Amino acid sequence: MSEFIVRAPRPEELDAVGALTVAAYRADGFLEGDGEYEKELADAARRAAEAELLVAVSAGGDLLGSVTVVRPGTAYAEVSREGELEFRMLATAPAARGRGVGEALIRAVVERARQLGARQVVMSSPDAMKAAHRLYARFGFTRLPERDWEPVPSFWIRTFALDLYARSGADPGTR
Ligand SMILES: CC(C)(COP(=O)(O)OP(=O)(O)OC[C@H]1O[C@@H](n2cnc3c(N)ncnc32)[C@H](O)[C@@H]1OP(=O)(O)O)[C@@H](O)C(=O)NCCC(=O)NCCS
Repeated sequence: MSEFIVRAPRPEELDAVGALTVAAYRADGFLEGDGEYEKELADAARRAAEAELLVAVSAGGDLLGSVTVVRPGTAYAEVSREGELEFRMLATAPAARGRGVGEALIRAVVERARQLGARQVVMSSPDAMKAAHRLYARFGFTRLPERDWEPVPSFWIRTFALDLYARSGADPGTR
């Protein structure tokens, strides 16, 4: 049995979800000089209100990770189009890395996409996010280079997609 579950956060957990997301990005050096993005990551209350927030929680109630599930055309959408589901701000607390929390959160996004009848799951992330990209590759996400974007010159955000009709599992397999 899994040592954690994935569910919607409780209102009283939102500040901690924001702090966890900031801590996860900071630990990997993704926030240097970007105070605006840090504020956005900290604002889990807005993500819960304007998108769908999921958290991974240990049996003892500790928050381990979070992801934001985004429908196309809504406030947090960046690369999704009609018939797709997007996720953003995937984060595992630094102390909880390497236990399958990130994998469980992506699995929950894929399940949500299937429930909603989405054709594919998409997301975008910078080249530096190597751990995340390995995780996406294991799920079968492939690059969607035509949707890469460049928020500032020479800083490319790479887009990935998981076609839910191309394979039956959308699952990285058992370890
Ligand atoms: C990307 C991120 C969410 C992955 O979180 P995670 O919970 O450590 O992910 P997982 O545990 O599912 O997988 C990570 C690694 O642990 C390994 N792992 C997974 N389950 C495991 C288990 N039960 N026991 C041991 N190792 C395990 C995986 O094989 C994987 O190995 P790899 O580094 O060789 O690819 C995390 O690194 C993070 O928060 N990064 C900063 C923010 C970020 O980059 N977000 C992406 C934004 S789009």
